[in-house]
This record gives sequence, structure tokens and C-alpha cells, in this order.
Amino acid sequence: MISLKGKVALITGASRGIGRATALRMARAGARVVCNYLHSKEAARTLEKELKRLRAGYHFYRGDMSRAKDVERMFRETLRKFKKLDILVANAGIWKGAPIEEMTEPEWDETMDVNLKSVYLCCHHAARIMKEQRRGTMILVSSTAGQRGEAFHSHYAATKGAVISLTKSLATELGPHGITVNCIAPGWVDTDMSAEPLADPIEMEKILALIPLRRLASADDIAGPILFLASDLARHITGEVLNVNGGSVLCG
Ligand SMILES: NC(=O)c1ccc[n+]([C@@H]2O[C@H](COP(=O)([O-])OP(=O)(O)OC[C@H]3O[C@@H](n4cnc5c(N)ncnc54)[C@H](OP(=O)(O)O)[C@@H]3O)[C@@H](O)[C@H]2O)c1
Repeated sequence: MISLKGKVALITGASRGIGRATALRMARAGARVVCNYLHSKEAARTLEKELKRLRAGYHFYRGDMSRAKDVERMFRETLRKFKKLDILVANAGIWKGAPIEEMTEPEWDETMDVNLKSVYLCCHHAARIMKEQRRGTMILVSSTAGQRGEAFHSHYAATKGAVISLTKSLATELGPHGITVNCIAPGWVDTDMSAEPLADPIEMEKILALIPLRRLASADDIAGPILFLASDLARHITGEVLNVNGGSVLCG
């Protein structure tokens, strides 16, 4: 059993998908969780009911992770409520498509802001807190797209590649302060984000043909490895990219 008893974890984009599954896994492992969301109020309420049933300590924070003020307030509220922060999971993200010749500047900027600037902002505040504590762990959510690129989602792939290099930079920079920084790179996950291509049986067949395990990940298939990275079992791992993709991108 992995225990996060006594730990405080902050998860961005926790209302749905991977973030939600991670919040539940961490709460079940004994952590108190700060759950960020933006638009999905109903989904956040449902998660809150589940956390209550688990008798977990929690705090919900509605805010846009691409906005510096919202992120700053979230960290302030976390400290006010729980007095410390042990685990950051920078997970919030969007996946939009456009051929490069049609991609507009606002579309490019939106993906950069939500998928990359948000990660910088969260790491910035988490590092300040964790350096003072002289301990902490950060888990940043990338994607196979950041490793092999993704046609018609070039801005998305660029942000996810940047998340990998950010992980490696911060692991080196923050390691001497007792802080680990790792990255998780999921392949296809069955969440709202990928619902459109997965609803098309022809697309689905093509996708499955490229996954050696011939199955999609569930959100919980990603949350489990995130829990491992957040635990003491992973205390000597830093700067690592953990691939959770059914074997579809075999790279270390
Ligand atoms: N699904 C996949 O196949 C896949 C594959 C590889 C990597 N990933 C990565 O995994 C992460 C989670 O994806 P998912 O599949 O769980 O997606 P999802 O089901 O679409 O959920 C996305 C979450 O991010 C939140 N979010 C979006 N923009 C936000 C913002 N500006 N501020 C705060 N929260 C925001 C959403 O909150 P609200 O709904 O409350 O707005 C939601 O909770 C993303 O970084 C994604 O790129 C996913």
C-alpha cells in the first residue's frame, strides 16, 4: 500500500479525467488534496461528494491556471488552509487542433498559456514553498505528443515537449533543495479530451493498432503511476519521464 498520510497535494485540472482520478487516488492514500478546476462546476461538486465519502481533507479552488493572479491566489489559499505543500501535480491542459497554415495567433497563445505557462506558474510558486520546507515533489503532465510530435496539433506537441525539458531543468536546479521533479507522458487516455476521435470506430481501430497492449489507458491507469511518483517509493527518482502509453512510444 502506498501511503501519503500527512501529505498535502495540489492537483490542477482536477474536475475531470486524469486530474480527478489522481485526486481520488491521493485522497485514498491519505493525502489532503487541493483540487483546482475552471469551468466544470458540476463535476467538481461530484468529486467533492466522493472526497467527503472518503473522509479526506480537501479544498477546491476555481481558477484559470494560465492566469498569474489566479495561480498565485491558489497557492496562498493552499498555505492558509493546510500550512504546507508536499506534492504538486501540474495536469490542467487543453488539446485543440489546427493545420499550421490555419492556426491563428490567439489559438497558438491559448495552448501555450494553458499547457505551458500554467506549468511554469505552478512550479514557480511550488518551488518557493518547497525550498523553504527543504522537501517536496512535482509531477508535470506531458504526453507522447511531446516526444514524437503530433500532426495538426503542433502547438500542443510543442508545449508537451517543453514540459519534458522543464522537468529536466528543474530536477537539476531543485534537487539540492530536496525537491524531486518528474514528468508523466501518457499516450491515448479515455477522457473527455480525446472523446471525439475515440467515438469514431475507424479512428479507434487505427489508434489501437499502434498500441502494442491494444487498449486505451483509463484516467486511473495514469493516476496510479502519478501516485507512485508522489510517494516515498520514488524518492530517488528525479528528472525522469515516465511513459504510460501501452508501449506505443518506446523511448527512455
Ligand atoms: N486524454 C489523453 O489522451 C491525454 C494524453 C496525453 C496527455 N494528456 C494530458 O493529461 C492532462 C489531463 O488531460 P485529461 O485527458 O484528463 O483532460 P480532460 O478530461 O479534458 O480534463 C482537463 C482538465 O483540465 C482543466 N483545465 C483546462 N483548462 C484549464 C485552465 N485554464 N485552468 C484550470 N484548469 C483547466 C479542466 O477543468 P474544467 O473542466 O473545470 O475547466 C479539466 O479538469 C492534460 O495536460 C493533457 O494534455 C491527456
